[in-house]
Amino acid sequence: MTATEESVRGVGDEQPLRLRRLGLGDLTGVEELERRAYKTPWSRTMFSGEISRPGSRCYGAFIERSLAGYLIVARYTDAWHVMNVAVDEPHRRLGVARLMLETMLRETDGDGTRGHTLEVRVSNHGAIRLYESLGFRPAGMRRAYYTDDREDALVMWRGDGPDTDTEPLVR
Ligand SMILES: CC(C)(COP(=O)(O)OP(=O)(O)OC[C@H]1O[C@@H](n2cnc3c(N)ncnc32)[C@H](O)[C@@H]1OP(=O)(O)O)[C@@H](O)C(=O)NCCC(=O)NCCS
Repeated sequence: MTATEESVRGVGDEQPLRLRRLGLGDLTGVEELERRAYKTPWSRTMFSGEISRPGSRCYGAFIERSLAGYLIVARYTDAWHVMNVAVDEPHRRLGVARLMLETMLRETDGDGTRGHTLEVRVSNHGAIRLYESLGFRPAGMRRAYYTDDREDALVMWRGDGPDTDTEPLVR
């Protein structure tokens, strides 16, 4: 991907948001944001594995030189799998996650052999709303999927994949 520069709501002309692929040099910023965003954060090794993997799509959204958010997507035989997405608290509800996901979907939609899938905590209504607005639909549940508190995961699919419910879950 060539670097793109976008203005999203509230991140205006003075602070353009730049999207580019992540490299190993971004690991420290990613790790720090991850620790702020999640109770049970991914390790640095997990991020470096995904960033290094051929076929993965890993994006960072930057304001000036500072990382505002990231998106990690792995390519499997049958699907693009959204593995991790986070936006730093001060930059939330400005459209940063939407912009990263839309960019990824635009770049991978032409690949007719794969749909897109993800898991999300059933309590994470904001994220579910975001995914539904991008065309993801509930397709099943993984019971006690999250090892820290045994919360269930909602499995969502967009495009080719297991049959999905047609009705959005969150309105
Ligand atoms: C979930 C997360 C990535 C969303 O990032 P974001 O940049 O704030 O999301 P966006 O601004 O692009 O949101 C787009 C839309 O999604 C929905 N949405 C996002 N966050 C929401 C929230 N907390 N509550 C309700 N709706 C929400 C809204 O419809 C929003 O549009 P609106 O602002 O016009 O109402 C961010 O809150 C985050 O990092 N959370 C912690 C980590 C996490 O839960 N990651 C997802 C794991 S599956």
